[in-house]
Amino acid sequence: MKNNLIFDNFYNKINDCDFTELKKIQKEYFGKNGIFIQILKSLHNYNDDYKKDIGSKINKAKNDILVKINKEQYNKNCTNVEKNKNNFDCSEGLFFPFVNGNFHPISKTIYDISSIFKSFGFLVSDGPELETDWYNFESLNIPKNHSVRDLHDTFYIDGYVDLLLRTHTSPGQIHIMEKHKPPIKAIIPGKVYRNESSDSSHSSMFHQIEGIEVDENITFLDLKNVLFEFVHAFFSRNLKLRFRPSYFQFTEPSTEVDIQCNFCNGNGCKICKNSGWIEILGCGMVHPNVLKSVNYDKEKYTGYAFGIGVERITMLKYDVSDVRLFYENDLRFLKQF
Ligand code: PHE
Repeated sequence: MKNNLIFDNFYNKINDCDFTELKKIQKEYFGKNGIFIQILKSLHNYNDDYKKDIGSKINKAKNDILVKINKEQYNKNCTNVEKNKNNFDCSEGLFFPFVNGNFHPISKTIYDISSIFKSFGFLVSDGPELETDWYNFESLNIPKNHSVRDLHDTFYIDGYVDLLLRTHTSPGQIHIMEKHKPPIKAIIPGKVYRNESSDSSHSSMFHQIEGIEVDENITFLDLKNVLFEFVHAFFSRNLKLRFRPSYFQFTEPSTEVDIQCNFCNGNGCKICKNSGWIEILGCGMVHPNVLKSVNYDKEKYTGYAFGIGVERITMLKYDVSDVRLFYENDLRFLKQF
């Protein structure tokens, strides 16, 4: 019989069956000499594409019948009055089909970026999402009443004026410097929060990866080199980088980094708004006042820091047009990564 017909037959058979019938069909197809098992045994005679196609169809059939058996068993359990009297576990006797899961795209990017920086000798660390005003602002050279705080409006905790959800991963710089003496070289991935209403490119919760290196004689060139190597490794391509002057309170000088648009190779398209460039991160040389906050000798040490927007770089890598897709938990979207 042609394989397609075998699958059609199988699916016709498992329609409208009760538990006992389903178990019988399962044996007929997946038992020791079952029909699908025989097919799997004969696959070595065929080419790779065919093997892959039939193999995955049989795996799917195996899961599909298990799901049906589970459903029948579950219904049987739930309608068993005697058992229900004794608060029994209604999942009793259920089989668990093995569905291969995969990383959420944001976790995948964090994992990929962490692996890249680990290979450059960076430590991967973390910090609390609930921060004090000191760690989120003051220690980073952002005094009270500074106008930039408007851009970092966030969620405060009722009854605790000093506690807030961190607006960036930069407080991680302070935590890591407090814990270790220089030289330090670390990245800090994590969730950050801002009081923003969500649209296709904004969300009130998103992810960043902070990076910091402090040692004697660290220069802007070290920052350029590390970011160049990172972009090359992450996009698996030699994309050009552009360092645009910018302003952050905790770095001086500060720049924003654009990469050559990976969709049009810098020729100009809708995604890069015809500029040929796309912004991916903020960075700069650690401000002496920040080194002072953690009692590092600012005459002896210098360092650089950067902050990568995880959602943004994931959208660029996989051509995702709306940030909200990451949080809707629609499996049709999530399974593609
Ligand atoms: N914390 C900055 C932001 O959220 C990014 C940044 C990190 C800039 C480190 C410079 C150095 O916008």
